[in-house]
Amino acid sequence: MKVAPLTWLLPLLLCYQLALLLQCSGTTETENLYRLIKSRRSANPPRSELWDELGGRDGNASPLYIGPQDGLMQDDKIESLPGQPQGVNFDQYAGYVTVDPKAGRALFYYFVESPEDSSTKPLVLWLNGGPGCSSLGYGAMEELGPFRVNPDGKTLFRNEYAWNNVSNVIFLESPAGVGFSYSNTSSDYANVGDKRTAEDSYTFLINWLERFPQYKTRDFFITGESYAGHYVPQLAYTILSNNNKTNQIAINLKGIAIGNAWIDDNTSLKGIYDYIWTHALSSDESYAGIQKYCDFTTGKFSTKCVNYTYQAEGEIGEIDIYNIYAPLCHSSGPTSRSVGSVNDFDPCSDYYVESYLNLAEVQKALHARNTKWAACSRVGWTDRPTTILPTIKQLMASGISVWIYSGDTDGRVPVTSSRYSINTFKLPVKTAWRPWYYNKEVGGYVVEYKGVVFATVRGAGHLVPSYQPGRALTMIASFLQGTLPPPS
Ligand SMILES: *[C@@H]1O[C@H](CO)[C@@H](O)[C@H](O)[C@H]1NC(C)=O
Ligand SMILES: *[C@@H]1O[C@H](CO)[C@@H](O)[C@H](O)[C@H]1NC(C)=O
Ligand SMILES: *[C@@H]1O[C@H](CO)[C@@H](O)[C@H](O)[C@H]1NC(C)=O
Ligand SMILES: *[C@@H]1O[C@H](CO)[C@@H](O)[C@H](O)[C@H]1NC(C)=O
Ligand SMILES: *[C@@H]1O[C@H](CO)[C@@H](O)[C@H](O)[C@H]1NC(C)=O
Repeated sequence: MKVAPLTWLLPLLLCYQLALLLQCSGTTETENLYRLIKSRRSANPPRSELWDELGGRDGNASPLYIGPQDGLMQDDKIESLPGQPQGVNFDQYAGYVTVDPKAGRALFYYFVESPEDSSTKPLVLWLNGGPGCSSLGYGAMEELGPFRVNPDGKTLFRNEYAWNNVSNVIFLESPAGVGFSYSNTSSDYANVGDKRTAEDSYTFLINWLERFPQYKTRDFFITGESYAGHYVPQLAYTILSNNNKTNQIAINLKGIAIGNAWIDDNTSLKGIYDYIWTHALSSDESYAGIQKYCDFTTGKFSTKCVNYTYQAEGEIGEIDIYNIYAPLCHSSGPTSRSVGSVNDFDPCSDYYVESYLNLAEVQKALHARNTKWAACSRVGWTDRPTTILPTIKQLMASGISVWIYSGDTDGRVPVTSSRYSINTFKLPVKTAWRPWYYNKEVGGYVVEYKGVVFATVRGAGHLVPSYQPGRALTMIASFLQGTLPPPS
C-alpha cells in the first residue's frame, strides 16, 4: 500500500475552511504552521534532526555579536502611539536590534513596562508562531498587549487584562522577514529555520539587555503560542547552554509557558481528529476510518487514511477552527462600529491591526522603517524537528518552570494534542487534576506533573488572551509567581 507522511494534507483543508473567514493568502498564524507541515512532503523537506543534533545547542556556529547600545534605550522610547487613549501610565519602547551586522539583519521589538513596580516585576518575552507571524500584530495588538485596535483602524483602546499588569513584556518580531524585522541580505528570508530563529533571538536578547541594563539580572520568562511551541523551548535551551559558558552574560531564565503549542507532529495530529469528532464537528464514519487506517505512531498514512482525514476535515464546514464556537468576520475592512471591547473579541481584528500598523504616523511613532507591514509573511523554512519533546524534557531536567497551557475551544492545536504530547512523558502526578477559578467561575483545569504544569483555559481558542483575557491573566500571573492557578 502506498504510504505518505501523515502531515501533508492539512494546509489545503485549512485554506479551504478559511476562505470566508480571512483572505487565504498566508495571513494567519496556523495557516503558516500547516504550510510548513506540508513542506515535509516536498522534494526538499526541512531537516528534521533533533534540536541538539542540528548544533542548535551550542550556538557555536558564529561568535556572538554584541553591538554598542549606549543611548539607544532613550532613542527607542515611544512618546505616544497615535490614537492611544488618555491616561497611559506606563513606558513603551520600540526599535531595532541588530543581530548580524554583516548581513544587515535586525529584529524589531515592542516593549511595555508595568504601570506599577516595573523595577521589581519580572521580564517576559512573548513570541507568536506561524512560522512567519508577528508578535506585534497578534500578541501585542490582539492578545496580551496593553492596547487593542478599534474598528476604525486608527485608534486604540486599553486592555485592562494586559500581561504588563504583572510583568514587563517584550514582543519580538522573529525571525527577520516577519513584520518590521528585516535583513539587507534577501537570501536570509529563504534560508531560515528553527536554528537561526533561536540563534538570532538569543543575540537579540543579549544586545537588548545591554540596551536596557537595568533588566540584566531580572527574573526572565519566555512565553508564546502555536509554532512558538518550537521557538520557546529552543530559545530556552540556547540560553541555558550559553549560561554555562563562563565568558557570557547569564540570563536569569526562570521558566517557559507555551500555549496551544505545536510540539510533536504525531500526537498533535491524532489530537486534531479526536477533538473534531468529540466536539461534533465530524462524522462517526470518517472517525472510524481514521481509527482503522491511520497509524499515528509511525507517522505514515495510507491513501485510505488520507481520504478519511480529508472527509473529516471537509465535514467541519465554515467555522473558525481556531475557536470553534466563535463568530466569523463578515466584513473585510474597518467598520462603522466605533469602539471595541476587551470582553467581546472582534473576529475582524486582523483587519483593524493591519490598517493601524500601516499608518505612516504609527510606523514613525514605533521607530519602524517605512514598511508594508503584514501579520504573517512567507519565510522559508530549512530545518525543524518533527518533535521537540526531547528538548522540553531537557528543560524540565534543568529545573526551570515549564508550563503547557491550552485554550480548550481551539480545533487546530487542540487540548487533546497537548495532552497526548505530555502523556508521552509518563510523568508522576504531583498535584491532581482540579478546576481553577477566576471571578467565581471555573477558569480552566490544572494538573501538575513532576516537571511540567498543564493548564487549560476554559472557553478560549488558539489565541487564548483574545477570547478569555481575565482567565488568561490569572493563569499567567500564577505561572510568574510560581504557584498553581487559584483553587477557588
Ligand atoms: C540595511 O541597509 C540600510 C541601507 O544601507 C542601512 O541604513 C541599515 O543600517 C542596514 N541595516 C543593518 C541592520 O545593518
Ligand atoms: C491592571 O492595572 C490597571 C492599572 O494600571 C488597573 O486599572 C486594572 O484594573 C488592572 N487589571 C487587572 C485585571 O488587575
Ligand atoms: C550546564 O552545565 C551543567 C553542569 O555541568 C550540566 O549539567 C547541564 O547539562 C548544562 N546545561 C546545558 C543546557 O548545557
Ligand atoms: C512519529 O513520526 C515520525 C515521522 O515523522 C516517526 O519517525 C516516529 O517514529 C513517530 N512515532 C513516535 C512515537 O514518535
Ligand atoms: C480516495 O478518494 C478518491 C476520491 O475521493 C478515490 O478515487 C480513491 O479511490 C480513494 N482511495 C482509497 C484508497 O480509498
